[in-house]
Amino acid sequence: MQKNHRHAMMVANWKMHKTGAEAAAFLARLRETGAVKPGGCFVVVAAPFPALAAAAEAAHGMDVGVAGQNLHWESEGAFTGEVSGAMLAAAGCTYVLVGHSERRHLFGETDEMVHKKVRAALAAGLTPIVCVGETEQQRAENETELILRYQFERAFWGTSAEDLLRCVLAYEPVWAIGTGNTATPAIAEGAHRFLRHCVLDIFGAEAAAGFTILYGGSIKPGNMRALLEQPDVDGGLVGGASLDADTFAALVRTANVS
Ligand code: PGA
Repeated sequence: MQKNHRHAMMVANWKMHKTGAEAAAFLARLRETGAVKPGGCFVVVAAPFPALAAAAEAAHGMDVGVAGQNLHWESEGAFTGEVSGAMLAAAGCTYVLVGHSERRHLFGETDEMVHKKVRAALAAGLTPIVCVGETEQQRAENETELILRYQFERAFWGTSAEDLLRCVLAYEPVWAIGTGNTATPAIAEGAHRFLRHCVLDIFGAEAAAGFTILYGGSIKPGNMRALLEQPDVDGGLVGGASLDADTFAALVRTANVS
């Protein structure tokens, strides 16, 4: 599918699930399904750090990108427990998730840290998949657009339009993640249209037309098509429904044809 030259994308976010052997078994099954094919949507799997090398090896020759789920902004140093962009790239990653709401809310990641991670990912040659989204309370208080604009601006502060197009944005309303409460297609489209307007405002028309914006939050095979039919929804970032290869393959097929 192409919308305004934008290629559809389906990203599996395994969170803290799967060993290297489980990642390899998932990718072997995904290969068997035949869902990943030339001309289809871009497919990415975000694996835990210890499973990245095995995932990259299993994905070899298969048109599936591998993503880290986090990175540190420094290239090396005394930062126990952290991993740099260069290390992710060396393990076979071409993408990295940045600013997922679980990182922001459970691990205290700030907009400033997200910004530094975006810069570090780009410097390491990785495509950052940057997550933004409002909480239930912020939506109830009519602050959704304020929050989205702020998170977007801070994440990409000082980024050139050219570099912006090396990034992917994911709109992930916090109230929809892991809750079963998917945003309706209208709510998702409203947020995506607003974010694309922010891109237009800051980076210009070409960037706005070419910028990939994914939706994430309780995606399932049954609700993906209606989301993808929205003009500004370019794909999905999938948590729970990405753990099973056949379910994820069904999502990839939806994005291939919609
Ligand atoms: P979910 O997670 O699909 O389980 O709601 C999405 C995400 O956190 O990226």
